Order: sequence, then C-alpha cells, then structure tokens
Amino acid sequence: MPSSPLPPLRCPVCGAALNVRGGPGDAARKALVCGSGHGFDAAKQGYFNLLVGKGTVFEADTAGMVAARFAFLDGGHYRPLADAVAAAVAPGISPGEPFTVLDSGTGTGHYLRVVLDEVQRRTASYAAVALDISKFALRRAARLNPEAISLACDVWQPLPVADAAVDAITVIFAPRNAAEFARVLRPGGRLVVVTPRAGHLAAVAAQAGMLSIEDDKDARLAESLSPHFAAESTRDLDILMMLTPGELADLAFMGPAGHHLDRTAIAAKIGSGGVSTQVEARFRITVFRPARSAP
Ligand SMILES: C[S@@+](CC[C@H](N)C(=O)[O-])C[C@H]1O[C@@H](n2cnc3c(N)ncnc32)[C@H](O)[C@@H]1O
Ligand SMILES: [Zn+2]
Repeated sequence: MPSSPLPPLRCPVCGAALNVRGGPGDAARKALVCGSGHGFDAAKQGYFNLLVGKGTVFEADTAGMVAARFAFLDGGHYRPLADAVAAAVAPGISPGEPFTVLDSGTGTGHYLRVVLDEVQRRTASYAAVALDISKFALRRAARLNPEAISLACDVWQPLPVADAAVDAITVIFAPRNAAEFARVLRPGGRLVVVTPRAGHLAAVAAQAGMLSIEDDKDARLAESLSPHFAAESTRDLDILMMLTPGELADLAFMGPAGHHLDRTAIAAKIGSGGVSTQVEARFRITVFRPARSAP
C-alpha cells in the first residue's frame, strides 16, 4: 500500500490549516494540529474525531447497523455498483498526476476501497478523505482504507477540507451538502452521486416493513445540488440477487429501517425458511460538474 500525502485540511475550530503530527507515513499519523494549537488525536482505530460543539441533531448508524452493512457488502452483491462508481471517477484521473478523492458518508469504506484500487492503477500519487458521522462506521473504514484520512464530522457543518482541494467527491446513499461540496471540489472536478430508483429492493421492503422507494428522485436530487452543480451524465444499474434470509435481514437492517426496528424484529418478519428470495437493487449513478464549468 503506497503511503499517501495528507490532503489540505482545515481546523474545524478556527479554519487554519491542519497538519499531521507524528512524522511521515500512515502508521505515524498520531494527531492533527493547527497553528493555533487546536489538536485532534487519532482514535486507536486510526480515524480522527473532528466533531466539535453541539452540531446538528443526527441519527448516526449504530454498531449493529454498521456490522450488518459490512457483512452484506462483504458478500460482494453490490460489487457491480462499486465498479460503476470507480468507473465514474476514473475519467478525472490523469495518469501519473496527483489525484485526491473525498468520500462523504463513507460508511464502512467499502466503495472507497474499490475507488482507490482503481485510482492506484492510474496514478501512484493520490490522497483520500473519508467522512462520516458514525464512529462505528469509521472504525471499519479506517481499517479498510489505511491510506485515506478518515474523519468523524457532520456533513451539514463546514467541511474540514480546504477550498478546491479535491478532484472528485463520491456520495453513495448519504447526505449531500451542495455548497460545501462546491467549495472543496476543484473547478473541473466531478461529484459522483448514487441514489436508489423506483422499485429498489421492493421485495425486501415488502417483507421487512421498510419504506419502499416509489418515485424516481431525479428532480429532487438535481434541485438539492442546484445552483452549485449540473448533471453531466447518468447511468442506471440494476442488480438481481438471490439472498438468504440472513442476507435479507442484514440488507434491511443496514438501511433506514435499522433506526427504528431491531434486527431480531426484522429477522422475524422475514422468517428463516431457508429459501432464497429474489431481490432487485436499482441504482442511479449521476456525475455532476460544478455549475460554473458546466457547458
Ligand atoms: C446509508 S449509509 C451509506 C454508507 C456508505 N456510503 C455505503 O453506501 O455503504 C449513510 C451514511 O451516511 C452517514 N451520515 C448520515 N448523516 C451524516 C452526517 N450528517 N454527516 C456525515 N455522515 C452522515 C451515516 O453514518 C452512514 O454511514
Ligand atoms: Zn484551529
């Protein structure tokens, strides 16, 4: 694993540049410090907690939800989606040139891993920032992506990243702060957003009491990113899966249902008949460009 430079970060307290303390190399990243003396120690799992003040009210994913997401994604069912995200990022990379990617709402870091493997094939000089509000998620993400800098922060607050510091942002089923994304993305950069389409996981929704995705959210997605971004291209990806009751329960529990149902309740609704269920995942991958550089 090549060691990666630190992308330009901003202190969440005073806005000054954050530097790493502990010497060169990933293992030696002990703390982030700014010139005014604000310091943020690395958790033993390797991420940094940049959550300061009260912040906004949020519902972070629990340890159980994160474990379910890790188990499900580890099964490889969504690999075509990870490949599609990597393919959407790739055209922005110039071979051999430095490249910095930000994964917002990184979760367990599953998609960032695949993106970074693709980036590495094209340039040895790359850096990555992974953001999430869930420390349970970041423990996994920091382990999976040791070359990235994994930060606990709230995407609805000013991001701890310098202006125009990143070449690509990926947001997979996670909240989007358009103004902050526009600030930290360089003018020619790309924002890759994954959203569900109508009918996504409909069979699981029916069995597990999840909210179903009824309508395409295209207009709302574009609206939420306007006026900062304009859509450049869209790709739809459907994945047909045969899932065991355990996989179905993980899939249901790792999503929004996990915030209001426990896994036992979800597993009871699904049953354990040992029969696999056919489930279709329906994704949309949209590449946005900063509006000022859009044609
Ligand atoms: C549905 S999960 C998707 C995770 C990951 N991108 C994936 O697809 O596996 C949404 C993620 O967004 C994070 N999240 C939710 N609200 C957030 C916020 N205000 N700031 C940062 N992250 C947030 C959650 O903790 C969770 O990891
Ligand atoms: Zn500071």
